[in-house]
Amino acid sequence: QLDRAIRPLRLADYIGQPVVREQMELFIRAARGRGEALDHSLIFGPPGLGKTTLAGIIAQEMGVSLKSTSGPVLERPGDLAAMLTNLQAGDVLFIDEIHRLSPVVEEVLYPALEDFQLDIMIGEGPAARSIKLDLPPFTLVGATTRAGMLTNPLRDRFGIVQRLEFYSHDDLATIVRRSAGILGLPIEDAGAFEIARRARGTPRIANRLLRRVRDFAEVRGRGQITLDIASDALDLLDVDACGFDHQDRRLLLALLEKFDGGPVGLDNLSAAISEERNTIEDVLEPYLIQQGYIMRTPRGRMATRHAWLHFGLTLPQHLQQAA
Ligand code: ADE
Repeated sequence: QLDRAIRPLRLADYIGQPVVREQMELFIRAARGRGEALDHSLIFGPPGLGKTTLAGIIAQEMGVSLKSTSGPVLERPGDLAAMLTNLQAGDVLFIDEIHRLSPVVEEVLYPALEDFQLDIMIGEGPAARSIKLDLPPFTLVGATTRAGMLTNPLRDRFGIVQRLEFYSHDDLATIVRRSAGILGLPIEDAGAFEIARRARGTPRIANRLLRRVRDFAEVRGRGQITLDIASDALDLLDVDACGFDHQDRRLLLALLEKFDGGPVGLDNLSAAISEERNTIEDVLEPYLIQQGYIMRTPRGRMATRHAWLHFGLTLPQHLQQAA
């Protein structure tokens, strides 16, 4: 029922991402064999691909506790110190959105990562003093949607860097069938594949669509998730055949119709569809770029021929010549 019920807890249940899985299996086994904490690990990739899930799995496989927080929550050095001094040897400290750590907090993090030393100032004015504490060896797992936004010194302190990729339809279908099994939902393979095909390469979206398709199946069908049920439910949810949702289509249509396919700068696109720059860059664009509908160029965003064709529009001159 709950999200955490369908989250895999072991690497063996983590579907897809074969490179990440094989590497992490090896690094974890080696660290365990030496009786050491795993090296600090950075996980990056678009939202919903399983960064938090992977952090949980790392802790589970290492046989240690997971302590979770996020960049924006750690406002002051003391907030980080509280987390650090609460760790047992080998524990995983998970910091989500680690690119949003403030510079003063980052300063405290460096010696903690490098030498397992906490070095902070307490108090103010003449009574202020610095205290140093030894920390147990621990593993920082940092997650970010954009590795490019980390400062160099922070990035350099991660011994392991993993990039999560969008999932194939087959892997997503396996995830949907697994989730359906846990939720006790009858589902046909074709139904699972239809949800997978329209889930933007993203497990979080696939699992969300599964729950909505279940609602549809229970009310308009007999509970069974068939191909027809899945397809009709997804049409109702305004997810198109390529898996683009309303916001994806707004972005693409603005680019095509208001800016003649570009190139157009992010600020103009942002104003045209009243969506934040960050949401466009982190959430909407990565999938559209990966699928080949948009290109980032030095002069701005451009629509590709796929984008024009998707909406049944006539290709502009410069794209017709290339055909
Ligand atoms: N949920 C999120 N990511 C997953 C994955 N890789 N495998 C199975 N379930 C998931």
